[in-house]
Amino acid sequence: MNKSGCLVNKGVFSAAVGANKQIGPRFWRLGLDFEGTAAKVFAGSQPGQFVEIDISQTALPSTEDIPEDLVDVADRKILLRRPFSFCDITVSGDKTSVEILYCVLGPASLRMTTLSKGNSVSIIGPLGNGFYIPDGKKTALLVTGGMGAGPLLHLAKVLKTNHPDIEVIAFVGAKTSAELPFEDLPAKIGTESGPWLAEFNQYQIESIVTTDDGSAGNKDFVTGSLARHLDKSAAGNDTIIYSCGPEAMLAKVAEIANENNIDCQVSMERRMACGIGLCQSCAVECKADEPGETLYKMCCKDGPVFDSKEVIFSL
Ligand code: FES
Repeated sequence: MNKSGCLVNKGVFSAAVGANKQIGPRFWRLGLDFEGTAAKVFAGSQPGQFVEIDISQTALPSTEDIPEDLVDVADRKILLRRPFSFCDITVSGDKTSVEILYCVLGPASLRMTTLSKGNSVSIIGPLGNGFYIPDGKKTALLVTGGMGAGPLLHLAKVLKTNHPDIEVIAFVGAKTSAELPFEDLPAKIGTESGPWLAEFNQYQIESIVTTDDGSAGNKDFVTGSLARHLDKSAAGNDTIIYSCGPEAMLAKVAEIANENNIDCQVSMERRMACGIGLCQSCAVECKADEPGETLYKMCCKDGPVFDSKEVIFSL
């Protein structure tokens, strides 16, 4: 039985679309509502877990709403479900609502933009392992790159709700300010830590923003901000880093965590066909117990969250 008192811990469920809101040029937040057994199951899901959504029956937007770079691929058939993690979960009575942050990158996410309140979608989940919060931690550093912000927003809420004594700081990176996947960005984002991002600030969490081109916050990679912060602070065993974003960024975060002797968990991304460990399409190379030996773990079943020390990053 999981912590929500439910005997089932995952399954195929029907979700009702509660909202589908565009929050940026390519960024949307999709709200899904669950009732009955599904509501109990999703109430117990962890930050970093994910769902597989069936978008095969969802319509394309009208021609004028298809971005130019997707015109050639827009009408490809969607055969496989698509994986998405949650950026928020709200439990209200016997109803559970989850929110998914997504970016319009291809034919499946393009179709998702046409979902509207009351539509029904088929979901498999919650899948995989989420972020783990060990005992004894006093500081959590959340390091996100681009769309990696989604599961770390959910983690931020859980940390602030269930572990209010842990100080949390968010390090948020993107290529440009337009690629920060947040709503209502302030016109000017400073280079220091501040209440820049409302989605973190709602949990009283300050953020340090970096962009590759300096159009918001620091002109740097997010790992540069993280390294500078750790140079100035006395982080140690009571600090933990949680990270989600491009693999090259995760590899650098893992290196910084190692150099500073700080625990670090990374959420890996792979193409996922089945989501339940059957198709072997989502392998992540990991260190084996024998020195120098490696083994492959399945991102969908053994992850997507891994201890950074066990992953062999492919760069
Ligand atoms: Fe099929 Fe992971 S997605 S094994």
